[in-house]
Amino acid sequence: MQELLKVAMPKGRIYKQASKLFREAGLAIPDDADDSRKLIIQVPEANMEFIMAKPVDVPTYVEYGVADIGVVGKDVLMEENRDVYELLDLGIARCRMSVIALPDWQPVINPRVATKYPNVASQYFREQGQQVEVIKLNGSIELAPMIGLADRIVDMVETGSTIRENGLKEYEQIFSITSRLIANRVSYRMKNNAIQALCDRLQPAIAAATAGAGK
Ligand code: PRP
Repeated sequence: MQELLKVAMPKGRIYKQASKLFREAGLAIPDDADDSRKLIIQVPEANMEFIMAKPVDVPTYVEYGVADIGVVGKDVLMEENRDVYELLDLGIARCRMSVIALPDWQPVINPRVATKYPNVASQYFREQGQQVEVIKLNGSIELAPMIGLADRIVDMVETGSTIRENGLKEYEQIFSITSRLIANRVSYRMKNNAIQALCDRLQPAIAAATAGAGK
């Protein structure tokens, strides 16, 4: 009998894709968990317990060891910079981090950049040798250049609908994003068999899903 794994799962959009991938890997994740409001979901068939977290908090639960492993977007991982192991690229929730502005954007001195990702944005502009003022927002980031709060934004682009529908333009892509499987450093040693067994099951499912998506 393998040890119980506590898994920090991101509530919402990524959870649907993650639970689908886990099922494709042969794990018996109940369908009704997708729409449940429960915050702790027992999955005894897979010897797991899901902790349903706000996506941005997943690395925190894993770093502190209240979850052994977690599923999290590379965007959050880069922004939060937590002390965790990154085990697998799950290949789900594909999107990108980009610099976006109005189509007639012109460089100005000390521009303002609005974002949900202040660390990512600061690091990017520092590496570009550009001095900017970063303004942290929590959502609807595209509003900022439209109503004059910021010159540019750093945000996620998935389908591109939000920027298109709001008349904005994507200027630069900073990095591509997929969800990752992460592990707590101590759990990785203490529950290595169970974690490794999970990775071994997930890998072919990821390869199959990626090959299917490329068709
Ligand atoms: C995210 C992101 C963009 C949008 C990109 O926002 O911040 O606004 O999705 O997706 P698209 O390219 O498919 O349009 P989210 O829906 O998470 O809401 P938020 O703006 O409140 O953060």
